[in-house]
Amino acid sequence: MSEPINVVVTGAAGQIAYSLLYQLASGSVFGQNQPINLRLLDLPFAMEPLQGVVMELEDLALPILREVIPTSDPEIAFKDASAAFLVGAMPRKEGMERKDLLSANVKIFKVQGEALDKFARKDVKVLVVGNPANTNALICSHYAPSIPKENFTAMTRLDQNRAQAVLASRLGVQVDKVKNVIIWGNHSSTQYPDASHAIVNDQSVPIAVNDDAWLNGVFVETIQKRGAAVIAARKNSSAMSAANAAADHMRDWFNGTKPGQFISMGVVSDGSYGIPKDIVFSFPVTIKDKTYTIVQGLEINDFAKTKLAITVKELEDERTEAHSVLMP
Ligand code: NAI
Repeated sequence: MSEPINVVVTGAAGQIAYSLLYQLASGSVFGQNQPINLRLLDLPFAMEPLQGVVMELEDLALPILREVIPTSDPEIAFKDASAAFLVGAMPRKEGMERKDLLSANVKIFKVQGEALDKFARKDVKVLVVGNPANTNALICSHYAPSIPKENFTAMTRLDQNRAQAVLASRLGVQVDKVKNVIIWGNHSSTQYPDASHAIVNDQSVPIAVNDDAWLNGVFVETIQKRGAAVIAARKNSSAMSAANAAADHMRDWFNGTKPGQFISMGVVSDGSYGIPKDIVFSFPVTIKDKTYTIVQGLEINDFAKTKLAITVKELEDERTEAHSVLMP
């Protein structure tokens, strides 16, 4: 057994955390030989329900789970953290504009960036789930200058998993037979789910589907609107599937991707594919030795270029708004 690592989950009393914590405690993310100390951060008013979550974690009686500390103090939560799941965020309330939501959230992620900078390990791996996830990750990284910006990522894995499931259903194959679907851009309705490089049982997905109008139309819109469809049905946003995707993201980051396979993550753009730098953009990546590399050389056709431009514009606008809130 290795030495325990500190893992932070923010929004720990919320819905996504409730599904995620079991996966962490059971070893399905960092492995059965990696003990973990959990640091559970939430707001002061949520400490009582969080105590109930702590009791349940104890009652799991799982061997790799060592210490569990519930807290509303970012210093305690982020101390010596090796991995951080930033799930907690201000939810969108009725009548709230996207701009109001962004303004409330960038303030939260500024504080958490500063706390990571001061108290976490310099190799901490940060996954931002709380929305607007891409811009929150950018702000967090900005306020943690002593930590490499490559260590800040935003979650688009749920969108990738959704896209894979829709393609598998259309093709009548098991979901794991579909690989290399890409989510480009923002985790929002402007994202571009791209099946043009995907493969199914070693065959190209566009050839197997043989219906480009569907791939460029119904498929793209279904994935873009899937989050809203779940909210409409459940009256709550995706939680079980979001927690599963967060676990997938961090597991791949720690353990690497399989040969010939890539996954999508929101990362600080390095200018690949002509995407402007200094936005957190979802790209296809491969991962080795806990380091991701953006997949290069994929062909981007004219349809894809139009879609990428839309999601770039939204992220640039979010960045401008975030800066106007933080540095008026
Ligand atoms: P929830 O409302 O059930 O839980 C959020 C928790 O965060 C609450 O316990 C709240 O007290 C806490 N919180 C709020 N501000 C905090 C702060 N400053 N520090 C620590 N904790 C704080 O929400 P749920 O369903 O767990 O979702 C969390 C976030 O994840 C939302 O922003 C949601 O939009 C986002 N989300 C992102 C997805 C993605 O694919 N990137 C998918 C699904 C949800």
